[in-house]
Amino acid sequence: MDKKEEILKGKNIVVGVSGGIACYKSASIVGALKKKGAEVYVIMTKNAREFITPLTLKTLSENDVVCDMFEERESAEVKHITLAEKADAFIIAPASANIIGKVAHGIADDMLSTTIMATKSPVIFAPAMNCNMYSNAIVQDNIKKLKSFGYKFISPQNGHLACGTEGVGKLADTRKIIEEIEEELSL
Ligand SMILES: Cc1cc2nc3c(=O)[nH]c(=O)nc-3n(C[C@H](O)[C@H](O)[C@H](O)COP(=O)(O)O)c2cc1C
Repeated sequence: MDKKEEILKGKNIVVGVSGGIACYKSASIVGALKKKGAEVYVIMTKNAREFITPLTLKTLSENDVVCDMFEERESAEVKHITLAEKADAFIIAPASANIIGKVAHGIADDMLSTTIMATKSPVIFAPAMNCNMYSNAIVQDNIKKLKSFGYKFISPQNGHLACGTEGVGKLADTRKIIEEIEEELSL
């Protein structure tokens, strides 16, 4: 195993999961990060919970999954700040058009968008959506704006989409996503 391959060992990786069909793939991303020795903390949006259960991601990450900003917690810690500070890298996969738009416009109205706002760690978005949504000029403009602020993007693939059409919008492969995180950590 070369140095880059071991770089995830002991690193704190925050995985943001936003609402889209590709949410089920976040399970394999969390599993792959754990296999490489990372500590994984998952933040889900309320809408992501319509697609995959927190229980699945809690079990795979071996950590509590955070969804609700105002949930009663045992400790007095301010969760979005502790997670934001703890993160060595932050990956949002899948990234919905909505979360991309919110972050691009400084909106922090839930746990995921607020934690992204509060972190100094590298933030990587892996978008997944219908091809017409992805090519929409507003989405593309939001991506361009976020890139100009230093946010990283892993482009979606061309292929058969869950909505039945063909086009660019399919979440990048888990392997590619892991490699990009490793690359970011090695900089
Ligand atoms: C069946 C279904 C599939 C969806 N798939 C996607 C998707 O792949 N990408 C996306 O950006 N939005 C998708 N959406 C729409 C989002 O769930 C919606 O924009 C939501 O507001 C996103 O919220 P969030 O970003 O807070 O998770 C889908 C909605 C439904 C009902």
